[in-house]
Parts: sequence; structure tokens; C-alpha cells
Amino acid sequence: MHTIAVTIRHAEPDDYDSIIPSLDAWWGGRQMAGMLPRLFFTFFRPWTFVAVDDGAVVGFLAAFQSQTDPRQVYCHFIGVDPRWRGRGVGEALYQRLFVEATSRGCLEVLAVTAPTNQGSIAFHTRMGFVPLSGPRTEHGVPFTPAYDGPGEDRVRFRRLLHEPAGRPPSIAD
Ligand SMILES: CC(C)(COP(=O)(O)OP(=O)(O)OC[C@H]1O[C@@H](n2cnc3c(N)ncnc32)[C@H](O)[C@@H]1OP(=O)(O)O)[C@@H](O)C(=O)NCCC(=O)NCCS
Repeated sequence: MHTIAVTIRHAEPDDYDSIIPSLDAWWGGRQMAGMLPRLFFTFFRPWTFVAVDDGAVVGFLAAFQSQTDPRQVYCHFIGVDPRWRGRGVGEALYQRLFVEATSRGCLEVLAVTAPTNQGSIAFHTRMGFVPLSGPRTEHGVPFTPAYDGPGEDRVRFRRLLHEPAGRPPSIAD
């Protein structure tokens, strides 16, 4: 558990304007902005959080409760300004989501990531997510080819909310 100075709060619609210009750069140049429409900062505010330092947004998390199964929460995006990485901002954002989801009676948080995104896989594993089964594996991690369309392979992660606070001990330790 890191100790950080940033504030985690619900997103305001205007936060979108400070995040979106930097989004692709935060993902190392990948074209991600088209996957983050403003609607997450307007219609999903109970589930969208920002990390703020001295008025500047240094990280965000965009999630929502499943309309199919309200016991599930899906995290669509989590990103931290590269200058702030490795200082617990991502963890603080996920911990805030876990608290929100638990308080609303949800049982699990789901997320997907590209099997090539080793940093995201390591991070999610540290946050207590476990990869769900998939027909192929990369570096020992199961993934589903073309899960999000042609060429868009995905590792499917699940984090049960009844685990003790922090991380289950058996995953990456
Ligand atoms: C993934 C990301 C959100 C992590 O944010 P962060 O603030 O740097 O993460 P934290 O500092 O809270 O790290 C929490 C734990 O995860 C681990 N972790 C985080 N990034 C890691 C990486 N790239 N490789 C290995 N471990 C990593 C940390 O070491 C830490 O573990 P520890 O407590 O044992 O030291 C950030 O790197 C990022 O924005 N990446 C680009 C966007 C992305 O890929 N998002 C995920 C897919 S939507």
C-alpha cells in the first residue's frame, strides 16, 4: 500500500477536457481517445473518478455498473499521468472503485486489457485481479483472441470484492 498526496474524487464533466488531449500520450502513443467519449464524465459520474494534485488531474478511472447483472462493475479505462506512475495513484483509484462498488452491493469488478500490455497485466494482478480462462496464453496469461474484434485480443480480468482489503495473497507474490 502506497501513501500518496493526491485527492480522489468523482469526475466532473469538465475533467474530460483536461484528460482527453493527453490520453494517447499516456498510453504510449496508442490511439485511445476514440474509446473514451465524454459520456463517461457525464452519464457515469458515480463510477468515474479522478486523481487530482494541486488542481491538476493526474489520473482517472472510468467504470460502470453492469446493466445486465448489477452485481458486476466493469472498469473501462484506468490511466495515470506517466510523471505520476509508480506512486500509488492507480491503486488509490481502484481502491476507491472497490469501496464504491462494495457499498452498492456489487460482488465483482471486471476489466480487460491487451495481452501485450504487460504493465497493465502486472498492475491488475497486484490489484487482486485474476485472469479468466481463455483459449490461448501469452507469458502464461490466458487471453481471448479477437475478443474486441479482429486483431483486438484481450485478457479478461476479474476481481472479487469479498477478498480482504488490498490484494489476495496468492496472485503475484
Ligand atoms: C497501469 C497504470 C494505471 C498503473 O498506475 P500507477 O499509478 O503507476 O500504479 P501504482 O503506482 O498504483 O502501482 C500499484 C502496484 O502495481 C504495480 N505496477 C504498476 N504498474 C506496473 C508496471 N508497469 N509493471 C509492473 N508493476 C506495476 C506497482 O509496482 C504497484 O505494486 P507494489 O505496491 O507492489 O509496488 C499506469 O501505468 C498507466 O496509466 N498505464 C497506461 C494506461 C494503461 O495501460 N491502463 C490500463 C489499461 S485500461
